[in-house]
Amino acid sequence: MTSTPYTTARIRSDFLEFFQGKGHTIVPSAPLVPGNDPTLLFTNSGMVQFKDVFLGAEKRSYVRAADVQRCLRAGGKHNDLDSVGYTARHHTFFEMLGNWSFGDYFKKDAIAWAWELLTGVWKLPAERLLVTVYHNDDEAYALWRDMVGVPEERIVRIGDNKGAPFASDNFWQMADTGPCGPCTEIFFDHGAHIAGGPPGSPDEDGDRYIEIWNLVFMQFDRQPDGTLIPLPAPCVDTGMGLERLAAILQHVHSNYEIDLFQALIRQAAELTGADLENKSLRVIADHIRASAFLIVDGVLPSNEGRGYVLRRIIRRALRHGWMLGVRQPFFHKLVGTLSAQMGDAYPELPAARDLVERALKAEEERFAETLDAGMKIFEDVAARVTDGVIPGIDAFRLYDTYGFPLDLTADIARERGLVVDNAGFDVAMEQQRKTARAAGKFGGGVQLPADLVATLQPTAFLGHDELQAGDLKVVALLRDGRPVESVAAGDEAIVLTDRTPFYAESGGQVGDTGELTGAGVRFDVADTQKFSGQFHGHVGRVAQGALKVGDVLSGEVDAGRRSTIVLNHSATHLLHGALRGLLGTHVAQKGSLVAPDRLRFDFSHFQPIASGELAQIERQVNDEVRANHAVVIKQMDIQSALDAGAMALFGEKYGERVRVVTMGDSVELCGGTHVGRTGDIGLFKIVSEGGVSAGVRRIEAVTGQGALDHVAAEGRSLDEAASVLGGSRGDVVDKARSLADRIRKLEREIESFKAKAASSAAADLASAAVDVGGIKVLAARLEGIDAKGLREAVDRLKQQLGDTVVLLAGAQDGKAALVAGVNGAATGRVKAGELLAHVAGRIGGKGGGRPDLAQGGGEDGPALALALEEVASWVGQRLQ
Ligand code: ALA
Repeated sequence: MTSTPYTTARIRSDFLEFFQGKGHTIVPSAPLVPGNDPTLLFTNSGMVQFKDVFLGAEKRSYVRAADVQRCLRAGGKHNDLDSVGYTARHHTFFEMLGNWSFGDYFKKDAIAWAWELLTGVWKLPAERLLVTVYHNDDEAYALWRDMVGVPEERIVRIGDNKGAPFASDNFWQMADTGPCGPCTEIFFDHGAHIAGGPPGSPDEDGDRYIEIWNLVFMQFDRQPDGTLIPLPAPCVDTGMGLERLAAILQHVHSNYEIDLFQALIRQAAELTGADLENKSLRVIADHIRASAFLIVDGVLPSNEGRGYVLRRIIRRALRHGWMLGVRQPFFHKLVGTLSAQMGDAYPELPAARDLVERALKAEEERFAETLDAGMKIFEDVAARVTDGVIPGIDAFRLYDTYGFPLDLTADIARERGLVVDNAGFDVAMEQQRKTARAAGKFGGGVQLPADLVATLQPTAFLGHDELQAGDLKVVALLRDGRPVESVAAGDEAIVLTDRTPFYAESGGQVGDTGELTGAGVRFDVADTQKFSGQFHGHVGRVAQGALKVGDVLSGEVDAGRRSTIVLNHSATHLLHGALRGLLGTHVAQKGSLVAPDRLRFDFSHFQPIASGELAQIERQVNDEVRANHAVVIKQMDIQSALDAGAMALFGEKYGERVRVVTMGDSVELCGGTHVGRTGDIGLFKIVSEGGVSAGVRRIEAVTGQGALDHVAAEGRSLDEAASVLGGSRGDVVDKARSLADRIRKLEREIESFKAKAASSAAADLASAAVDVGGIKVLAARLEGIDAKGLREAVDRLKQQLGDTVVLLAGAQDGKAALVAGVNGAATGRVKAGELLAHVAGRIGGKGGGRPDLAQGGGEDGPALALALEEVASWVGQRLQ
């Protein structure tokens, strides 16, 4: 081969052109966060965006497609995070070149075209290529041997080598469920000078034989129980690693030596001062790609789900920077180079550059607070270890207090030949959870005893439509957390009924209050909570009569309270929509509280919201309120809901059927209660905005009458302020401003008066000095003068009196500041520090200083007067 400029850019376009020529439609890369697949953490391969097409649930206008897909393999089923930095070919983030057939061509064309592109277009030497097939795929075997002409010794059959049926390197599956099928893989032999054996051999994990292209023959949909259901039609899914191919075409061995990585590595070397060969630079170069694209695709560092994977990746990179001696934020500075390298292929990256840099810098600053200390802890622990194992409790401490993700600690340990006790870590974590649970009040997560649950049906909730209902049968009673048969007047208890109009706290919306009544019995419901996930428990007190299991009651929700709750709940949806619209789609709900008097909404965002933006958000929500959209609530299956664009919360569990709440453009999955039309909200007013934790902001707001009350209260404060200032609402700001100016001016005047007063007081004082053996001794108490004023006065008196010993006490608020000075012939004979210590000692204080000037303090009072009187004789004794 000659030195053809096979840049990564050229390889991308060669690939797409080739398959376009074979009738494929070119589609853009999907984001790293799968749009409509809550089962998958990240887009881990090119086929993710086509999953539903394979399953027959979605139809496209084409049956052949090709693309270059950005992929992430960190966390989840396909996880390469632990290999980065240890091999020449693993990445967290990489690009996959893929071609697909949706029920169109199958094995024959897929194999023929792959070979044509590799050996015909890119001219890879056929003798350096090896292929594998699934052990019983005779069809693929024959195609390679007879159609392509690969010699039998370079076709390897691979069986179920991962401990279960269909668990094989040659049986590919997207995740534990979903499309899967046997595959055939193409390997490139980098040459005998590199360690490693061919696929299927014991040392196959070496870097000599590198898998470059995987052709999957998608035939099944894997079920949660492991059974394989045939797909509606056999499909082809292929994936080729762009970086691996570039390494081959650019005649280098490691992916990290290709054009794209070299630019990043050079920049990282400059920022860290490390040698270009340093392996840490590779980790940093890999991780900046993953981190930047995750942020582009809406993920921000956090402590859960996708955000935590991002945090782990960033912190690993930062730790490598730390190893290289970097102590300042550096990682975010790589975004510019990355954008220059990949911005043409992915314009969304330069578009989001500012956001990416800021989010990374914020995370760098945050981890900087604990990284150093955490590393010291690690070193201490590592030095104590005798059995090669870092105890789980220490790994947990590093995690909990120093923000070291477990895999980061494991990575550091691995460098020292140590391992971490993961089981011990889990125990420590569980222990902490238990303590936290025990400390917390009982909430929606409380479990009922299993034998009780076995006798119950999930509570039927009537409260979306009714606030009052009869015929509620008591199915269980709990007192002190234990099931009982009956409860009597005065008892605190929890009442479970078969049906109820009472909303149990969930999705941020607080539980209903109200009354349950029956013949001669009344139960005051102070709260409603969900138990074991599906039973509404009315929490409260028997106000009258007695209750037993089997009784039939009527229930009445406090309608006034509920009606204010629904305003806040619907407003929360509008707020969520406005935030995403105005700040960006990285905004994701992180928690909420929907109470009668206010709503609280926590969301991911990396910086405070400017007051102008806040006003815009408020305005946007009020626009939606006035648009008076009908609130439409529908039950549908989860997939249709996601297809309709419903916002699902990551990490939430949703059942098959979900409730979709639509108001205007806002579409959310939600089980809560809502207004009929957005106009019911009346008015939406933000009352505060602040940070909760890194990357998470909180907005609190009020609605309806609450918002009007808030506005009225603010108006009253304004009136009050105006009357205090002697003005009206209209000129309150001007009045306040001129008042502030006047205060500043007066303060300045006071300062100059004080200085004048002090100097004239000092002049008066001079005359009060007494002569002790030729030395003028002065001891006096001055009202309202602080230490600074005293020092100035002492300096002036020294000038005036010449040979002198001066002690001044400045009295203020029951305290006395003391300053002593010695000058002229007294110098050396009397020490200011000693005099001061003496006087201070008499007034319950202390102090000291130089022989010529000292200061301190004590209590103002009769003792001070006495002490001052004695100064002259004290000096007299010293002078003898
Ligand atoms: N989906 C296949 C893979 O990721 C092509 O290897």
